[in-house]
Amino acid sequence: MIRKHLNAHPMNTVLDVPQPSLFAPTQAHAKTLLPCQEPFYETAAGAAFVGDSAELLKAMPDASVNLAFTSPPYALHFKKAYGNVSKADYVEWFLPFAREIHRVLADDGSFVLNIGGSWNPGSPTRSLYHYKLMIALVEELGFHLAQECYWYNPAKMPVPAEWVTVRRVRIKDSVEHVWWLSKTPFPKADNRKVLNPYSADMLRLAKKGLKATVRPSGHNITSSFNKIESGGSIPSNVLEERTANDMLIAGNNSANDPYTVRCKERGIKIHPARFPPTLPEFFIKLLTDEGDLVIDPFAGSNTAGAVAERLGRRWIGMELLEEYLEASKFRFG
Ligand SMILES: C[S@@+](CC[C@H](N)C(=O)[O-])C[C@H]1O[C@@H](n2cnc3c(N)ncnc32)[C@H](O)[C@@H]1O
Repeated sequence: MIRKHLNAHPMNTVLDVPQPSLFAPTQAHAKTLLPCQEPFYETAAGAAFVGDSAELLKAMPDASVNLAFTSPPYALHFKKAYGNVSKADYVEWFLPFAREIHRVLADDGSFVLNIGGSWNPGSPTRSLYHYKLMIALVEELGFHLAQECYWYNPAKMPVPAEWVTVRRVRIKDSVEHVWWLSKTPFPKADNRKVLNPYSADMLRLAKKGLKATVRPSGHNITSSFNKIESGGSIPSNVLEERTANDMLIAGNNSANDPYTVRCKERGIKIHPARFPPTLPEFFIKLLTDEGDLVIDPFAGSNTAGAVAERLGRRWIGMELLEEYLEASKFRFG
C-alpha cells in the first residue's frame, strides 16, 4: 500500500508500513547518503533507487557502509531476461562497481558477493571467470578474502542438458559461490549471532559427558567440547535452509512468499534470479548490528532490503530496471 507521493516522479513513494523511529537520532535515514537522487520508494529503514549502481555508488560518502550484500548478473551461458555480461568481459565489467564498493565500505565492513559458476560453450568443462574475478578483487583492489562460502540450492536446473541429462557425463551443479570479502583482515563479525540449534546427537553427548580423547586427525577433544551452554552449534560455510531458524538448504523457487503471490495476482513478472531471504539474513546477522547500513547495488526484487528492514538495519537498494523495483514494493506489505 502506498501512502504518499514524494515529488514530481509519480512512482516515488513512501511505503505505507509502520514508520517507527528505529534508529538513534545520530543515525541519518539511509536516503540521505545518496542525496543526488530521489528514492524510487522509501521505508522506515531504507530507500530504493532506480539507476546504474556504478554511478549511484559514486555519490555515496567514503566508509559509510557496513555491509554490501549482492548478487550481480552472472556471466551465464543461458542469458537471463535482464541481460548478462560475457565471461570474457566479466572482470573488466565488474571492477568499476567493486572499486566503489571498496571505497564506500567502513574499515570493518564486508562485501559479500553471491556469484554462480558457468560452463564453457560447447564443452563439458567449467569456466574460470568467477575465480579470475576473485583474484582481481583481492590482488588489484585490495579486498581480503575473509571466507569462501557456498549456497546449496537444490532447485538449480540440471543443465547443460547435453552433458547432464542427455549424455550423462556430468552431474548436477547445486552450489553457488558466496564470497565474503572485507576491507581489512578483521571485519566486524560474530558467529554467536548465527548459531544453529544443537543436533539431538550433540545434546545427548553433552548429557552423557564427553571423554577427553585424541581424534585420528590429531585433534584433541577436550572437555571444553562438552560445553552446551554456548547456545548452539557454529554453522558451516555451506548455507542451506531447513527452517527459518536453521540455516540449511535454500531453494529460490518459493511459490508462496508474499512477493511471488502478489506478483502472480497482479500479472506482474516475477524476478527470474532472486536469492532466498535466508541468504542475506545469515550474513546481515553475522556481520552487522542493528542500525548499521546494508546496501545491495544489484537489488532486483530487493530481497536484501526487505530482510535488512525486518532485522532493524538501514538499507539502500539500487536497481537498473524500474519494473523490478516496482514489484519489490510487495515485499514491504
Ligand atoms: C541476479 S539479479 C539480483 C536479484 C536479487 N538478489 C533478488 O533477490 O531479487 C541482478 C540484478 O542486477 C540488475 N542490474 C544489472 N546491471 C545493473 C546496474 N548497472 N546497476 C544496477 N542494477 C543492475 C539486473 O537488472 C538484475 O535485476
